[in-house]
Parts: sequence; structure tokens; C-alpha cells
Amino acid sequence: MARLISILLFLSLLQLCPKFIVSLTDEPGSASFVFGDSLVDSGNNNYLQTLSKADIPPNGIDFKASNGQPTGRFTNGRTIADIVGEQLGQASYALPFLAPNTTGAAILNGVNYASGGGGIVNGTGAIFVNRIGLEVQVDFFNTTRKQLDEVLGEEKAKEFLMKKSIFSVTIGSNDFLNNYLFPLISATVRLNQSPDAFIDNLISTLKTQLTRLYSLDARKFVVGNVGPLGCIPYQKSITRVNENECVSLPNQLAVQYNAQLRELLADLNKNLPGARFLLANVYDLVMEVITNYKSYGFKTASVACCGNGGQYAGIIPCGPTSSMCDDRSAHVFWDPYHPSEAANLVITKYLVDGGTKYISPINLRQLRDL
Ligand SMILES: *[C@@H]1O[C@H](CO)[C@@H](O)[C@H](O)[C@H]1NC(C)=O
Ligand SMILES: *[C@@H]1O[C@H](CO)[C@@H](O)[C@H](O)[C@H]1NC(C)=O
Ligand SMILES: *[C@@H]1O[C@H](CO)[C@@H](O)[C@H](O)[C@H]1NC(C)=O
Repeated sequence: MARLISILLFLSLLQLCPKFIVSLTDEPGSASFVFGDSLVDSGNNNYLQTLSKADIPPNGIDFKASNGQPTGRFTNGRTIADIVGEQLGQASYALPFLAPNTTGAAILNGVNYASGGGGIVNGTGAIFVNRIGLEVQVDFFNTTRKQLDEVLGEEKAKEFLMKKSIFSVTIGSNDFLNNYLFPLISATVRLNQSPDAFIDNLISTLKTQLTRLYSLDARKFVVGNVGPLGCIPYQKSITRVNENECVSLPNQLAVQYNAQLRELLADLNKNLPGARFLLANVYDLVMEVITNYKSYGFKTASVACCGNGGQYAGIIPCGPTSSMCDDRSAHVFWDPYHPSEAANLVITKYLVDGGTKYISPINLRQLRDL
């Protein structure tokens, strides 16, 4: 049933913008190719047999394009990838790669490959049974790459990818939450592997995948670092820290990974001719919102809007039987793991038009205009 609803949603979304699709065939506009996890999944997991699903209410309750019906997005409204697309003038959201209608001219908005539970390495998210890791997401892009040659012709397809397309990669949280830090699955990994070796492997795997995208003509990249995982309602609930505290180990791991990510992107900027890799400093950005939440109009930066359990409603995931807050725009966190649309709006503003503290060496609007 939920699957049927989401297919109908895609159809109605497409019907809303027939003019757009036709005009793109003549003159491709800005497009985004979105790789990552549940922070940016726009519905790929609807098509998987998986325990990581968001095609159930009240997810999507504030998503206007679906009239509040769930789409598979793991938040109440738009994801950061949706809002970035809007802000950069993309006429329609990038459709999930696995949706049957993501073919033909529809792929000229870009395509979304992100998958809830997915990580940089294949083993991440095994607890969910199915999810699409980064390597397979890039394999899927290789399929889209061939379709673009068919839709635009080889020469135009190359130019479309190199000049008009932004490749965003929002991944890494699950490699910690649902791999390294997940005791049932990774006890042996943790015993045998220091975080140094684990993180080195994440970075080298990420390098391989970004280089594969480059070899397929991607040039404008933005890569998000890992947010303060120790501050999400799930971690705060299971560890029972005070309202103004975060759990240290997850945050330390994120900081360590983020330092190496910064070096990786500097290295790729130097060594891949014509490519621009932007670092989205999600860690400091989310910290800024959590620390100064009142000045952004939020009432809480610790309690999930939709969820149950513990002091921060952070143990049982969001679903039809969860309790839900009254004012969804007053919560930084929608559920135990994911920011609300209101928080995504604040974060996106910094990424699109902000300064180098949060997006560097240039911001997303400048990247688009290169
Ligand atoms: C979407 O796909 C279905 C079959 O997969 C097809 O019947 C339908 O015409 C498509 N709709 C659009 C708007 O392309
Ligand atoms: C990751 O999984 C894919 C799909 O199953 C497989 O083709 C690939 O070889 C795997 N990569 C590694 C490093 O194990
Ligand atoms: C893309 O697919 C083709 C086969 O169709 C393969 O030869 C090529 O190596 C693939 N490229 C990447 C980067 O995976």
C-alpha cells in the first residue's frame, strides 16, 4: 500500500511539471546527482526489502509536493538535497534511481541514489538487511551515465555533467552508528581494529568512489563531513546524558574522520584536473544550530519531535504509533536520528550562500556558477 502511494506520488509530481521536462530537453538547467544515506534518500528504500524505511506516516507530513503523504524521505518535509536543488534553480527534485519513472528526460534534473542505512563501506547497515552502499550507488550512476548519452548525445551529455551538474555526497554516519559503534555486529571489528585503521579504510574507499565519479565526467562535487553523532536524540537517550551534553565517543570518531576527509578533498582538488571538491562542514554547522538553537527559533535541540523512549524520545523510531510534537518547526530533530525540515532549511542557507567556515573553498551558489 505504502509503495502504491509513493508510485502515485511520483506520477503526480511528474504531472505537475510537464512543461519543465519538455524545456529541459532543449536546454538542460541545473541538475543534482545525490549520493548518500537517509539524510538525503528521496525514496530509494521504498523499492528495497529493508528494515530502513520511511514510507510510513508521519514522515513527510510537511512535504508539500506530496500533500503530506510519506515519500520515503526520513524527515517531516524536505531534505537538505531537496532544498539545495530548489535554491540553485533546479525545477524539480531529483527522483530516486530505483523509481520506475526515473528515465528519459526526467533524469535531466539529476538522480538521487541515496539509501537509508547505507555507508561508505559495503558492510555498513547490515542490520537493516538491505541498503545501497556507496560503491553500488556509483555503479547505478554508471547506468545513468549511459542513459544521458542516449538522451542528450555524447557531446552534450559530457558538457551537461561537467558544467551543469552538482554531485553531492552525504555519507559516513552509518559507518559509525551502524557499523563501528554497533556492538552486536561489530564487536569483533572493534576489538581487532583501532579507529585509526577503520577510518583509514573509510577514507580510501571514499577516495576510490569519488575518483570513479570523476572518471564518469563528474566535476563539481560537494562532500559533507559527518555531523556530531553524539548529539542526536538516539545517542543521548541510550547514554542518558544531560540536556546540554553530547556523548563523547561518537563525536570524537566524527572529528577524527572529518580531519582526514578535509585532507582527502584537498588532495583530490590538487590531483584531479578540472574538478572542484567542496567540503560541507556539517559537523560545525549542526553544532552551531544545537548550541544556539534559541536564536534560530527552536524550542529544543535535544528532544525528537517524532519518536519514543528515554528522556529525548530517542529510542523507538518514528512511525504511525509514535508520539509527535505539536510544533514541528520548533524541534531541531524530527526523529531520533534525523533533523527536521526547519533545521534543514537553516543548514542549507549556510551551504548555498554562506562563508568558508561552513562551506569551502567556495559556496554552492558559486560552484553552480563556475
Ligand atoms: C511511469 O511508469 C509507468 C510504468 O512503469 C508508465 O505506465 C507511466 O506512463 C509512466 N509515467 C510517466 C509520467 O512517465
Ligand atoms: C561491494 O558490494 C558490491 C555489490 O555486491 C560488490 O560488487 C563489490 O565487489 C563489493 N565491494 C567490496 C570492496 O567488497
Ligand atoms: C561503467 O560501466 C562500464 C561497462 O558498461 C565499465 O566498463 C566501466 O568500467 C564502468 N565505470 C566505472 C567507473 O565503474
